[in-house]
Amino acid sequence: MNRLAICCTAEVDDGEFATRIVAENNVAYAVYRLGDRYYVSIDLCTHGPGSLGEGLIVGEEIECPFHQGRFHIPTGKPTLPPCTDPIQVWSVHLDGDQIWIDLDEPQTNS
Ligand code: FES
Repeated sequence: MNRLAICCTAEVDDGEFATRIVAENNVAYAVYRLGDRYYVSIDLCTHGPGSLGEGLIVGEEIECPFHQGRFHIPTGKPTLPPCTDPIQVWSVHLDGDQIWIDLDEPQTNS
């Protein structure tokens, strides 16, 4: 297990739908709150330099602020061009109010 603490749930509390960017080990992660569920993906868009943590949540999708392509947050699958390649996502674990991921357990996007 390669456990990485991302942040506390209280740090993603700007509303029912919120994002936050967390940098750990020189990698930027985007953390999403969708109601009472939390998700973590890589922050960088696969189409270009867009920061997904600065994007707009639309339903269960994140819209990249650069060219408005979209990804399905729970799976990382691209849902709207110009994005065609999935983003890396990880299963989120909660330990009390701590959000963490296991870097050895990335989801496969399949
Ligand atoms: S950089 Fe994200 S859609 Fe182009």
